[in-house]
Parts: sequence; C-alpha cells; structure tokens
Amino acid sequence: MSATSYKELGLSNTKEMFARAMAGKYAVPAYNFNNLEQLQAVLMGCAESKSPVILQVSSGARKYANQTMMRFMAMGGIQMLKDMGSEIPVALHLDHGDSFELAKSCIDSGFSSVMIDKSDLPFNDNAAVCKQVVEYAHERGVTVEGELGVLAGIEDEVSHETSTYTRPEEVEEFVEKTGVDSLAISIGTSHGAFKFQVKPGEELPPLRFDILEEVEKRIPGFPIVLHGASSVVPSLVDKINEFGGKLKDTAGIPEDQLRRAATSSVCKINIDTDGRLAVTAAVREVMATKPEVFDPRKYLGPAREALKALIIHKNETVIGSAGKA
Ligand code: G3H
Ligand code: 13P
Ligand code: ZN
Repeated sequence: MSATSYKELGLSNTKEMFARAMAGKYAVPAYNFNNLEQLQAVLMGCAESKSPVILQVSSGARKYANQTMMRFMAMGGIQMLKDMGSEIPVALHLDHGDSFELAKSCIDSGFSSVMIDKSDLPFNDNAAVCKQVVEYAHERGVTVEGELGVLAGIEDEVSHETSTYTRPEEVEEFVEKTGVDSLAISIGTSHGAFKFQVKPGEELPPLRFDILEEVEKRIPGFPIVLHGASSVVPSLVDKINEFGGKLKDTAGIPEDQLRRAATSSVCKINIDTDGRLAVTAAVREVMATKPEVFDPRKYLGPAREALKALIIHKNETVIGSAGKA
C-alpha cells in the first residue's frame, strides 16, 4: 500500500498534546486497542469526557487485527468522531516498537507517533536505534518515544522477568543524543495483571517518585511516559472471579499515585490491562447469567459499555485529562 501521512487521516502528533499537558498539570491517556469494540469504547469515552487521547497499537495487535485493517479502523474512528461533532485530538501510536523497520512501516501507514523500545540493550545501542527512528519520523512530523530502564511484567509480546529502574544520570545524554520527543522511565510500574502478588491487607511498594524527581531536575519540562499504569481495578478482578475467573492475590498501581504522577512531568499514562479486565468482567457476567445468549452483540455490547465507563472514570479522576481537549 502507498505511504500515507497521519495528517491526511486527521490525526495529531503528541507534541502539542504534551505541551498542553505539561502546562496544565495533567497527563494524556494512552489506551491500547485490538478490536472494534475497544476502539469505539476508547473514542466514545474520550469524546464524552472531552479528553485528548493516544490510541495505542502494539505489534501483537497489528498481527491480531491485520496491519491494514488497523489503519482503516483508526481512520473510521476519526470519521465517527467527526460525525458525532467531536473534535478531540487523537494520536495513533505504535506501542513498544522493537525495530526501525516496524516503526517505519507504522509511520508509512499513517501513525502519528511511535515508540522505539530498545531499553533492554546497552545505552549506546538503544540510543543508536532511537536516533535512526527519530531521523525518519521527524522528517514526516511524527513524534518518537524512547525508553530508559526496564519494566517487569508480561503482556504477550512484551515481557521481562525483572525490572531495572531508570538511572537519572543517563537521561540527559539519551535525550540529547537521540532527539526523542518523550521518554518512558521505570519507577516501579510493571506490565500486565500481576504487577504485585499480594495477600489482602498487604502493603504495596510505592512508586519511586524520588527517581522521577531526579529525572525532572536533569531534563526539566521534558515529557515523561509511564507504562504499566493499570490499577488492576479490584472491583473488576472481584467480578471476574465471581463469574468463574481465576485472578488471585493481585494488585496494580493505586489511583492516588497515578494522580500524583499525572501532575508532574509525566505527560502520557499507558493503560491496557484495566481495559482488558473491564471487557472480560462484562463478558463473563453475561455468559454466566444469560446462558441463552449466542449473539456476540449481546456480550460485546455490554463489554464496550463497561470499557467506556472505565475510560471516563480514568480521564476524570485519575489522569486529569477530562475537559482538556
Ligand atoms: O505494554 C504492552 C501492551 O499492553 C500491549 O500488549 O503485546 O499483549 O498487545 P500486547
Ligand atoms: P498495563 O499492563 O499496566 O495496562 O500497561 C500497559 C502499557 O504499558 C502499554 O504500553
Ligand atoms: Zn508498555
């Protein structure tokens, strides 16, 4: 397929979004999607709460839904918003891109923002790939997110057993060498539904705000990204378990800590797992309580509603992006 610019698709890059978020002391939510119902829920939830939004596509999502389909779904989403009279800024972002070729392919197919995640490589190798992506992206007005430090956790194609906190003394050189527009850091969040294995009543280790503050001192005003920011919402976990699921003794990042992060130089907060939990809880409930149902709309519809409600809640009370579009 011929190359398309994100501008033709009505998308925004993240530059202006982050500048406004930094000044306004809130973050922009980045929600992952893999299918129609997730995309609709994210866009409708953000339109209703008047929030800017970053639609995230992982390489696993591209494989699942087909890369061409993904691009046209995003285009369809933008048109749906226009038809609804909504003008919220929307970025289409590659989540955890692992190669220059993948980032290039996304940019050529209309993504407005890409992440290049080579954080498990030595500093210079990570920086070299980031710089290569930045050169290609910036010529086309596309923004680039890099990462320093490694998050633990498992989500399909993104997986590390242990975490390594970001070393603040490295961030200045990394940003200068690569030209990235934002930087993901590791301060104690992790990917997936099993961030902390805890028994009820056990204390969670707090996020390392001291590392974040050190980073802010070294690159003041530079947009920081927090991955692995799902709260593993307890009411959703309980509902999943009530209707036959098995998610035991797990916890995520408490909302008050995310709220605090959103008022700092953290400009982008990534949430995927909580959306998955909302969808699964709703589908399980229908399956368990209405065994006569066989029309997918009868369980995917409630799942879409549950996800939309979750998104509005996050934007309004956790991320602070509601009303900022
Ligand atoms: O951080 C990873 C994202 O949540 C994407 O997960 O690779 O399972 O699509 P995935
Ligand atoms: P969660 O697994 O905490 O939702 O994190 C998602 C993420 O970081 C996507 O890049
Ligand atoms: Zn992530």
